[in-house]
Amino acid sequence: MKGHKILIVGGAGYIGSHVALAFQEAGATVVVLDNLSTGRRENLQPGMELIEGDLQLPGLLADLFRGHFDGVIHLAAQKAAGESMVKPELYSRQNLIGSLNLLEAYAKQPQSRLIFSSTAAVYGNPVRLPMDETHPTAPVNFYGFTKLAIEGYLDWYGRLRGMQFAALRYFNAAGYDALGRIQGLEKNPQNLIPVVMEVAKGWRKNLQVFGNDYPTSDGSGVRDYIHVSDLGRAHVAAYRRLIETPGNLTVNLGTGKGYSVFEVIEETRRVSGRPIPHEVVPRREGDPPEVYASAQLAKETLGWQARESDLSNMIESTWNCYKNLP
Ligand code: UD1
Repeated sequence: MKGHKILIVGGAGYIGSHVALAFQEAGATVVVLDNLSTGRRENLQPGMELIEGDLQLPGLLADLFRGHFDGVIHLAAQKAAGESMVKPELYSRQNLIGSLNLLEAYAKQPQSRLIFSSTAAVYGNPVRLPMDETHPTAPVNFYGFTKLAIEGYLDWYGRLRGMQFAALRYFNAAGYDALGRIQGLEKNPQNLIPVVMEVAKGWRKNLQVFGNDYPTSDGSGVRDYIHVSDLGRAHVAAYRRLIETPGNLTVNLGTGKGYSVFEVIEETRRVSGRPIPHEVVPRREGDPPEVYASAQLAKETLGWQARESDLSNMIESTWNCYKNLP
């Protein structure tokens, strides 16, 4: 990939910075566009250029695309499902309007190729497991709706403007770079693993387990956690595939295996050596009992499968970021 110039929108964020690292390791020249609302400057690696700016900023994208990019990876978005239900205007602005501005500006370029950060939330509640890409899409939160809507626009920009795209539907992103090159913690994390870490650190008194009466092995919720470094490599594989093969892609990025909330708690206790006080509270509204991907299509089309997504790997690499913090 030497000589390829890649724009990574949202590349200072938690997932974006791991994707940026994967492209740099594959030999690409990486330019990051980020408004630093949740991203962090220190997540960027030496040699990466940062353009600080927002997709809403008039003129910014037109200026940017006076230069040439071989590909654009778009991860800039708000991603808290619960918050999206109470602040739909924020999610409309950032996830919908921001993405449309980007598509509008970029799809005019000859040979435009865009990789879009989508989500398992486009499926909504599982009607069958594992969830493959033909599973019905019926988001149960506004966040999932915004991502599905952009998938629809990608399809149309593909037909009308010849833009090539890959929509990558992540399951539950977790873990940190094994070599510790990305240390910037997420701002206001709401997902299970960072919350458990904060309990292990003593920053939170206890963890609330949202329900222990699900029809799962131990009664707690089961999710398909996927290591962000695996996600990074999948983006590189998708980019290569777009170059080598005509056509577009919509693929799941997951492992095909789920872990329960209690397994995450136990693994964090083991790895950190710290107690994880927790209490069972009622189920959180909108949470399905069990979610896991079929990872078959990614394997067939991208030659990709998860490598670093063992629970112990994800918890250890995350704990390594937390353990030395005051
Ligand atoms: C997450 C994201 C969603 C994303 C999806 C990908 C949020 C709120 N949700 O959903 O945007 O698209 O992954 O599939 O960001 N849990 C507890 N206690 C806690 C927190 C979580 O018991 O304090 C449980 C949940 O009930 C669930 C599991 O842990 O069973 C994972 O929850 P979470 O990390 O919030 O992710 P999802 O809700 O699966």
